Amino acid sequence: MPLLIQNGRIITADDDFTADIYCQDETISRIEPTIDPQTLPSSPADLEIVDASGKYVFPGFIDPHVHIYLPFMGTYAVDDYESASKAALTGGTTTLIEMICPGPTDGPLDAFETWRSKAQGLAAVDYTFHMAVVRFEERIRDEFRRIVEHGVPSFKVFLAYKGALDLSDEHLFAMMKMAKELGVIVTAHCENAEAVDALQQALLAEGKTGTEWHGPSRPPVVEAEGVHHLCTFAHLTGAHVYTVHTSCDAAVREALAARHRGVNVWIEAVAPHLVLDETYAERADFEGAKYVMSPPLRTKWNQDVLWNGLRSRAISTVGTDHAPFSFRGQKEMGREAFTKIPNGIPTIQERVDLVHTYGVRTGRLSLNAMVDACTTQAARLFGMYPRKGAIRVGSDADLVVYDPDYRGAFSYETSHSKVDYNAYEGWERLGRPSVVTVRGQVQVRDGEFVGTVGRGRFIARDPTHG
Ligand code: URP
Ligand code: ZN
Ligand code: ZN
Repeated sequence: MPLLIQNGRIITADDDFTADIYCQDETISRIEPTIDPQTLPSSPADLEIVDASGKYVFPGFIDPHVHIYLPFMGTYAVDDYESASKAALTGGTTTLIEMICPGPTDGPLDAFETWRSKAQGLAAVDYTFHMAVVRFEERIRDEFRRIVEHGVPSFKVFLAYKGALDLSDEHLFAMMKMAKELGVIVTAHCENAEAVDALQQALLAEGKTGTEWHGPSRPPVVEAEGVHHLCTFAHLTGAHVYTVHTSCDAAVREALAARHRGVNVWIEAVAPHLVLDETYAERADFEGAKYVMSPPLRTKWNQDVLWNGLRSRAISTVGTDHAPFSFRGQKEMGREAFTKIPNGIPTIQERVDLVHTYGVRTGRLSLNAMVDACTTQAARLFGMYPRKGAIRVGSDADLVVYDPDYRGAFSYETSHSKVDYNAYEGWERLGRPSVVTVRGQVQVRDGEFVGTVGRGRFIARDPTHG
């Protein structure tokens, strides 16, 4: 149904103005100071009108780092595309990029098909993937070419997780050469797997098994070394790289120093590192397990570095690294040893409101910088701009009518993720997505999911990093 959004304050990465938006055939077709419904081709009965007076209108938000189907650390993340879509959309995210994380013996193309099949029929949000490269033997290299041809021109590597997802240097170098040749960007989890493993074993041997030891087993220098390593290979191969969930000053500095040397490196922060610090993972009675993720939560002052990096746009994006493992039965697998706690903090529903509440409303970030970091940069970096991440004639009609005056609290009760806790329980929430559209169809109204499960579409992308 055609859609007219009236009187909204339109805020993009670099604009701020009041206008009406008319959407037809899934795209934005007019943006004008005033659009008289009588002048539209659709009959009034066939037109959906949204009054956005007093509200912001943002481009639909993109989460560039999500896990939904994730076999990991002896278990599976608990969400499926239906629950994750509902969480994403009620939080204002209209497109997500999920990590395809195959096991060591899975074929890349088989993994791609498996992950795609998990989304089909259940996604209400638009989606695409980063393809993790966990092995890069000669015989499977063509499969990665085929995956790029299928519209997935971004790879993911883990320098961490020894024996599970980590990639040897021999394979990393060869993969980055191919990435350069294909114009594919390489996203990377930057922590030195060997160093983490050695530190973990030493701590366990000393009887240090609690959640408070997760952070010390992966100190900032381990992440900084990973960023340096990735950037050295990027320098040598010419590949473009993107450091995911960059958590601390030391890692940000390494990336910026490499950029200064001419390396094409972009930096992602994730919402948990912006607002949670290491004391959460130190909570007594195993409560800290809810806050075990990697890289770990850091000392609080690192949050200023991340916010300042976003403000200056040295840091490009804010994702979530949504990785939902329930406390009961899953996080509890690590009661005897922190190394067995499935890593991850679910945040897909909370991301935009956290950035608005604790970034914009505290004066750390402008609304334009928020939009840039939460959607436009991801669209540009990952080959979706201006189809996504923009409010322009011709762009997909993915829009978030945002109520900045809403007052509430984050809670398990209102979250759609299947996980059994909310990491931000009771925290103040200032603002919320009131209406959310995906390609012109209203999927959220008055903050509630009203959309169509299965309507989400795979977004095929072209390589843009040649
Ligand atoms: O703790 C995390 N980040 N869990 C998900 C897997 C990953 O490293 O992204
Ligand atoms: Zn990671
Ligand atoms: Zn991740």
